[in-house]
Amino acid sequence: MTRHLHLAEWVNQVAAFCQPDLVHWCDGSPEEYQLMLRLMVQAGTAMRMDPMRPNSVFVRSDPADVARVEDRTYICSQRKEDAGPTNNWAAPAEMKATLTGLFTGSMKGRTLYVIPYSMGPVGSPIAKIGVEITDSPYVVANMHIMTRVGAKVLDVLGTDGEFVKGLHSVGAPLEGSAPDVPWPCNASNKYICHFPDTREIWSFGSGYGGNALLGKKCHALRIASVQARDEGWMAEHMLILKLTSPKGEVRYVTGAFPSACGKTNLAMLVPTVPGWKVETIGDDIAWMKFGPDGRLYAINPEAGFFGVAPGTSMKSNPNALLSLKANSIFTNCAMTPDGDVWWEYMTDKEPPELMDWLRRPWRPGIGRKAAHPNSRFTAPARQCPVIAPEWEDPKGVPISAMLFGGRRATVVPLVTEAFNWQHGTFLGSIMGSETTAAATGKVGQLRRDPFAMLPFCGYHMGDYFAHWLRIGASARPEQLPRLYYVNWFRQDAGGHFLWPGYGENSRVLKWVFERVTGGGEAIDTPIGRLPAPGALDVKGLDIAPEALDILMKVDIAGWLAELPSIKKHYESFGDRLPAGLNKELSDLEKRLLAAGV
Ligand code: GTP
Ligand code: SPV
Ligand code: MN
Repeated sequence: MTRHLHLAEWVNQVAAFCQPDLVHWCDGSPEEYQLMLRLMVQAGTAMRMDPMRPNSVFVRSDPADVARVEDRTYICSQRKEDAGPTNNWAAPAEMKATLTGLFTGSMKGRTLYVIPYSMGPVGSPIAKIGVEITDSPYVVANMHIMTRVGAKVLDVLGTDGEFVKGLHSVGAPLEGSAPDVPWPCNASNKYICHFPDTREIWSFGSGYGGNALLGKKCHALRIASVQARDEGWMAEHMLILKLTSPKGEVRYVTGAFPSACGKTNLAMLVPTVPGWKVETIGDDIAWMKFGPDGRLYAINPEAGFFGVAPGTSMKSNPNALLSLKANSIFTNCAMTPDGDVWWEYMTDKEPPELMDWLRRPWRPGIGRKAAHPNSRFTAPARQCPVIAPEWEDPKGVPISAMLFGGRRATVVPLVTEAFNWQHGTFLGSIMGSETTAAATGKVGQLRRDPFAMLPFCGYHMGDYFAHWLRIGASARPEQLPRLYYVNWFRQDAGGHFLWPGYGENSRVLKWVFERVTGGGEAIDTPIGRLPAPGALDVKGLDIAPEALDILMKVDIAGWLAELPSIKKHYESFGDRLPAGLNKELSDLEKRLLAAGV
C-alpha cells in the first residue's frame, strides 16, 4: 500500500471499472517472483526449467501475440500535429472513451497487480518512477527483472511524487466457470496508447514484450522522449558500452540501432582485437543528461535484458548466453527433449528433435523454424559476465561517441564519422534499415528509421530533430560526443554479409576510440570522414580485399540515387523540419555532385 493519496485513488478508480477479483501491491521480493512463476505454471503459461536453469521458466505466447504492433500503437497528444507524420494519432478524449469501454470488466476473474517501478537506479537524478497496473503475472515477473520494483520505489515517491501511470490488461476477462487459456490476450483488439500531455499509458489486448512491459518502450522511450524534450535531456533507443584500451584508458559509447539490429550484441561483444575490452552498461535504452562539467552522462534505465534469442550463441554472443543460466524467462523458443531451450543458430548442429514454439514436433530439414524469429529471453543485467561495475552509478557515465546504424545491404559504408554535431544529426535523421521480426508486418522492407526511434518517438519527429540540434547547441563542441554512422549489414550480390560483424565490430570501436582520443587517421569524403587507408585495424581479419574495399569506400552513384528518397522523407516533416538539416542535405548533394564529375 502507499501513503501517496493520488496513487491510491488512481488504483481504486481503475479497480472499480476493471473489476478484478483481487488487488495485489507488488513489493518486488523474491517470494513474489516465485508466486508469479507458480501462477504461470498452474495456468499452463510456463514450465519451470529447474534444475537445468534454476528459477527460470519456458513460456509460449498465443501465436497472435508475438511482437510489438506498430499499427495499433497511438500517440494521443491534444493536438494531432504534435504526434507528427510518423505516429498514429487519436484524440485523447475519444481514445479514452474507447479504452474505458474495453477496460470495463476486463479484469474479471483475475488479480490486478500494482507494480511501482523505477526506471534507473532508485534515487538517481536521471531516474524516473512509473506505476504499472496489470492483470498478467507474466508481466509482473518480467517487470521484476527489467526494472527495479517495490517498496523502495514507493519510499522515493513519498506522498506526492510524480509518476507515469501505466494501465495494462490482456483484455481477457474470466467469466463464469470457463477455464483460462495458457496465454490470455485479445488479439483482435490491441491498443497501445500514449497520452504524452498527462504522462499516461493505456495498453490493451497484448501480453507481449514492448506492448505490455510498460516501463520499456512505452515509458522509457515514448513518454520519456516528450519529458526529455520539455526538460532538455535525451531518451534514446541506444545501447551503452564501456570501452577500455590496452593502456587502460576508458571511453563510453552509445549506439542507436533499430529493433533486432545488433544493440545487445554490440553492448557485450568480445573484441577480436587483442588487449581491448568491452563491458556493458545497457543494451536497449539510454537516458542522457548534461552533467556539471557540461558533458552528456548516460544511465541505463532498465535492470534487465529483453533480448532477441535467435542468432545468440557461444560464438556470436557468449556473454548473453552466460547471462541466462538462471533467473531467466524464455518466450517462444523451442524446447529440447530434456527440457532446455533452443533457437536457430544457438548451436552449430541442430538438435535431432525438438518441440517447436507452437508445441509441434520438429526435426532438422522440416522446412520451418523451431523458435519464433522474435523469440526472446528476459535476464537480469547483473548476471552478465561483462556488466560494468559502474552500470548502476546514479550519476551515469560520460559519453564520448554515439553510433547510428541500421541494416543496409547497399550504399552505406562500414563507418563514417560526422563532420560535426549538425552533420551527425543529419546522418541519424536519414538512417534507413530493413524491418525485422521485432514488430509484426513484413520483414526485410527498407524504411527510414531516424535514430532507430521511428516506432518510439512520442512526438513530432521534426521537433525531435530540432531537439537534437538544440542539445548540440547547448554544449561546447569539444564536450559533445562525436557521431558515427555504421553498417554491419552490407551484402554482396549473392546476399551474403560482407562484414563478419559481432566481435569483429571491435575494429570499428577501436578506430572510434582513437578518433575521440585524438589519434586515428581519417579522410574527408562527400558523406563524412572515413578511416584513412590503413587506419582501420584489420590485422588477422579473414576478409577478401575486394569485400573490404566495398565496405570502406563511398558509393557516389549509390548516394546520388538515394537523394530523392531522402528528400521525400524530409518533405514529410513539412515546416517542422529544422532548416539546418535541409542545409546538410543540400550540402551533401553539392559534395556528391562535385565528386561525381
Ligand atoms: P532489440 O532487442 O529488438 O532492440 O534488438 P537489438 O538491437 O538488441 O539486436 P540484437 O543484438 O539482439 O541482434 C539482433 C539480431 O541481429 C540477432 O539475430 C543477431 O545475431 C544479429 N546481429 C547482431 N549483431 C550483428 C552483426 O554484427 N552482424 C550480423 N550479421 N548480425 C548481427
Ligand atoms: C524492440 O523491439 O526494440 C525491443 C523488444 O527491444 S520490445 O520490448 O518488444 O519492444
Ligand atoms: Mn529494442
